[in-house]
Amino acid sequence: MDNALAMSNHDAAVLILAAGKGTRLKSSLAKVLHHAGGRPLIDHVVRACLPLHPKRIIAVVGHQAEQVSATVEPLGAETVLQQPQNGTGHALLVSKRAIGNAKYVIVLPGDAPLIRTETLRTLLQKHKTANAAATILTAVLADPSGYGRILRKSGDTVAAIIEESQLTPDQRELNEINSSIYCFTAAKLWPALAHVKPNNKHREIYLTDAISVLNSSGETVLAEIAPDPRETLGCNTRADLAAVDRTFREWKRDQLMRDGVTIQLPETVLVDPDGTRCTIRTGSVLRDATLGDGVLVEPHCVIDSSRLESEVILGPFARLRPESHLLKGARVGNFVEIKKSTIGEGSKAPHLSYIGDAKVGSKSNIGAGTITCNYDGFAKHPTTIGNRVFVGSDTVLVAPVKLGDGAYIAAGSVITENVPPDALGIARGRQSTKPNWAAKKRRELSANSTHHPKKKPHKKRR
Ligand code: UD1
Ligand code: MG
Repeated sequence: MDNALAMSNHDAAVLILAAGKGTRLKSSLAKVLHHAGGRPLIDHVVRACLPLHPKRIIAVVGHQAEQVSATVEPLGAETVLQQPQNGTGHALLVSKRAIGNAKYVIVLPGDAPLIRTETLRTLLQKHKTANAAATILTAVLADPSGYGRILRKSGDTVAAIIEESQLTPDQRELNEINSSIYCFTAAKLWPALAHVKPNNKHREIYLTDAISVLNSSGETVLAEIAPDPRETLGCNTRADLAAVDRTFREWKRDQLMRDGVTIQLPETVLVDPDGTRCTIRTGSVLRDATLGDGVLVEPHCVIDSSRLESEVILGPFARLRPESHLLKGARVGNFVEIKKSTIGEGSKAPHLSYIGDAKVGSKSNIGAGTITCNYDGFAKHPTTIGNRVFVGSDTVLVAPVKLGDGAYIAAGSVITENVPPDALGIARGRQSTKPNWAAKKRRELSANSTHHPKKKPHKKRR
């Protein structure tokens, strides 16, 4: 990397718009927390900005502010609360103080996760070089529907952004779209935004309207076409999320193949952006498996259509059949077979077990030789094991059956009835101990042998 590229951008603040609800997803989860490419959308956006080393990265939060903040703050972003959410322009106005005296403001929507650092760097560079008031990252799309359109004035300069709902029939032909990624010169941005009125059916202050204000006051607004149009894709619908996820997976496979990894039928292989620090030891076969960070697969494990979250330790000699889900820090050891079951955080099944159609909570211990009897010859039945349950060795759990939180199961039990929280379940024959029985038996046996002397030994051959 040359020095100019490695340079930080202390004159710029990054503002990520992430306060909206995402009504079109029809979801209870805030839009920017939906996953694509193995991470929340906003996570990708913050990570793309980090290498720019801006003065600060600010996320505008509102809907599910706490969860969104909890996602971005560990990555190094600050947050500003926008309540209520009166539009993308309003999101900038509430962030004015946090942006402070930064000379440039790079704005990104939290729902467009495919943006690359290099593209942002180029955008900022062009903006500075041209001494523009605003530079918009755009893309030319075959199907521009759903996006605001760029109305060009001449050459590189822009007259306005027209939101889809406000397009005239002629303007529907425009296929250059607004990515909602911009670079603004702060001193020009604030006066322009002050002139924007909520002139739309949602009564929102649209950031896009600041563009025509800048243009009317004689300022330069540029458009920079993204090198790959997919970098601008926003996720307003579930179909958008799927399309963006597909692109992430494709990019990841391309990268791996460039790095020398052979991938057969690449379109069928799904790799998260960076499961780091994983170890897969010899003789293990993984098919359609998803591994979090720091997973250790010991030798000779077979994993089929299953998911192992971070810090899981598996094997040696473990088998995960389809739909097994091992949560963070779970441990599944030798000669354990798991089928269609969840093993909760930090729970352990270290040896010789069959766990099928079961849900195990967190911090539970499944003793050696525990078997879930999930099949009665006709149908499969579920087993539910709560949190902090201790299942003694050689226990048979006859499903359907539930073990409450904190329950304790005596070793060697055949459990056919639910065990309530914190109770002991014991189901086995009681031991009876007969003192001196063995010594007596031995005495009897030796007494018998004196009354019935042994057969005469065979005559020795002469
Ligand atoms: C916006 C643009 C559109 C562009 C598209 C690109 C406006 C008015 N329109 O439309 O020109 O083509 O992005 O994807 O800007 N947000 C807030 N506070 C708010 C409203 C929104 O933080 O009050 C956030 C949202 O959480 C989202 C981003 O801003 O991350 C964009 O909002 P969204 O509703 O997705 O706008 P689009 O309709 O996609
Ligand atoms: Mg959007």
